[in-house]
Amino acid sequence: MLLFVCVVVCLEAYAPKIVASEFDRSLLTVAQVGEGNIVYSYDGEAISPWHDVPFSVDGFLCFVCEIPLGTTAKMEIHKSHAFNPVIQDRHKDGSLRYYEYGRSIVNYGAIAQTWEDPLTPDPDTGLGGDNDPIDVLQLNAKPCPRGAVQRVRVLGALALIDGGETDWKLLVVDVDDLSDPGVLWRDVADVPVHRVHAVREWFRLYKTAEGKTENNYAFGGIAVNATHATRVADLMHVHWRTFVDGRTSCSFNKVACWVGGAHQQKSEGRNDDGSDAELSKTTWYSLCSKTSWYRGLKVLKVPEVPEELRPGSLDSEGFGLEVELKPTLVR
Ligand SMILES: *[C@@H]1O[C@H](CO)[C@@H](O)[C@H](O)[C@H]1NC(C)=O
Repeated sequence: MLLFVCVVVCLEAYAPKIVASEFDRSLLTVAQVGEGNIVYSYDGEAISPWHDVPFSVDGFLCFVCEIPLGTTAKMEIHKSHAFNPVIQDRHKDGSLRYYEYGRSIVNYGAIAQTWEDPLTPDPDTGLGGDNDPIDVLQLNAKPCPRGAVQRVRVLGALALIDGGETDWKLLVVDVDDLSDPGVLWRDVADVPVHRVHAVREWFRLYKTAEGKTENNYAFGGIAVNATHATRVADLMHVHWRTFVDGRTSCSFNKVACWVGGAHQQKSEGRNDDGSDAELSKTTWYSLCSKTSWYRGLKVLKVPEVPEELRPGSLDSEGFGLEVELKPTLVR
């Protein structure tokens, strides 16, 4: 009897707060709070971009933008904070992490509802995963607004090996950016060769700027095709399911990865700093790019808009950031 109760309670399946087939992007809110942390809600309810944003919608995967093209702040989905906000990574001494190698040459982020399981050897590399949602290199010419959720097409993937761990880099394009030539790409074979080469070299070398060794690739650094890469993403979605259902565990810096739901601790606030309270009294801004996917995506601006998201700002390498930031009071 006890065993039966435990099986029912301990293995209760995680129910994401958004049902993929009913996903209405106009209900998704992306907000920037505190020192630039990005938090999410759906239909007024706090959600996790990792666990509640669907893995796929309309046959495309859901990409969460963490490090826009041309920027250096190492933003990522935080695995153990409540509701998994996107926040800037820190060094062991507490200082904020930036790419030291240079500005990002891709829109970098992750696919929702995926996890590279450290304990399951990858079928292609024989090595366990890096304990993160699967990484994504989105190849559009326009920077993605930080925190935005986009529908992307998988074109291929690079099997990066970092310190004995598998760290797949999915190559994708935003299917809603109709002005980008990439919207016609169906496979990595359609991407200009020099672009794939530049990306491969960047991710092979970027840690050398921090005094670390070069990364390696399986398959001799040749990108696997769209079919193969899609299979990889599907497998990482299965690994995520195994962990959120409590059949395996995930931790980050010795703290359990946060998952909402019955088998995990209830979380009252949304962030360590109690930023939930701030949400209700701040001004809502609308961050609208020309692509339809962002329409209805609301960004809450608290103290200031990051330099690189200011309209018309250009960085030293001449990347133009065509993000239109329109202050629109919605509440
Ligand atoms: C994709 O790559 C796999 C090997 O991983 C191969 O078997 C398959 O034929 C390729 N598909 C296409 C459409 O090229």
